[in-house]
Amino acid sequence: MNQSRAYFAPRRLGHANLFVGNYERAFEFYNDVVGFNEVYRQPDNMASFVSNGNTYHDLGLTDVRSRYAAPNQAPDIWHLAFEVETEDDLVRGYRQSIDDGLQYSFTADHDAAHSVYLHDPEGNMVEVYADVVRDWWTVRHGIIIKEKPEWVPGVTNVPSKERNYPIDPAIKVVDQAVFHAKKITNVAIVTKDFAAMFRFYRDRVGLKPIVGTEDSPYALLNGTAGHGDFALFRPQPGLKPGMHHVGFQVWDEADLERSLALLPAKGIKVERDVRHAARRCVSIRDPDGLLLQFHVDRDWTPATIATMDVETALYAI
Ligand SMILES: [Fe+2]
Repeated sequence: MNQSRAYFAPRRLGHANLFVGNYERAFEFYNDVVGFNEVYRQPDNMASFVSNGNTYHDLGLTDVRSRYAAPNQAPDIWHLAFEVETEDDLVRGYRQSIDDGLQYSFTADHDAAHSVYLHDPEGNMVEVYADVVRDWWTVRHGIIIKEKPEWVPGVTNVPSKERNYPIDPAIKVVDQAVFHAKKITNVAIVTKDFAAMFRFYRDRVGLKPIVGTEDSPYALLNGTAGHGDFALFRPQPGLKPGMHHVGFQVWDEADLERSLALLPAKGIKVERDVRHAARRCVSIRDPDGLLLQFHVDRDWTPATIATMDVETALYAI
């Protein structure tokens, strides 16, 4: 197997899909507290999909009782999804990686996007996808109950070379919500085999390290249009391997202060409040205990980010 070929050149983290204890309760929380609108719902999958216009969903909230969940599935991340430029790029990367022996779990036609799914070296599921329509809201809204059509990359259809991802979309605000999330920006994972995971996301998925190396305590990797999309941390006492947090950009620091003032009345505790030169960042937990990070960038540059110690970085990148 070729050891250094990146198959994809992702633009950014497009969404995360979370297994939640109850998808209707989770939607209420992600609407009332996090500040996302529901774009569409799939009752047959027991899932709600939320966004404010950044893309066709920033988060999937999939019930642990969904047919996609394993028996006794606990709340956790199901997959993280990276957006690539075009379907043609997706299919070429997929085919090259298959030729090199990479194995995929499945492929999917989501109407708005075509996707391939594989596992990283520690079993976290990664989706790589390309939007296949520009007006995604025409195919993803309201209640959707339908079987997904089969999609065989490069066979079912001639892969499109169009760039269909949203460019500068208008972002809505859920005014009455505690936080005013603009969009998902990042996911952080704690990993046992840091070097192997670093190399997988750099050399196979195609993210670019902007802070850290395979030997450092933590690393931050970017897509080509990204914002610090993906962080890796070594395990430490109290941290189990797997997702550590999912992060969202909010409007500005005054808006973040407004959010903080509303938390006590909701009975929500701040788990960590980081004020670093690179970023202001507040973390809370959702009803299932998943850690959510809300941030406003300050001097968000690799040189300033790299001044964070690992404990700060754990709650700020
Ligand atoms: Fe997905």
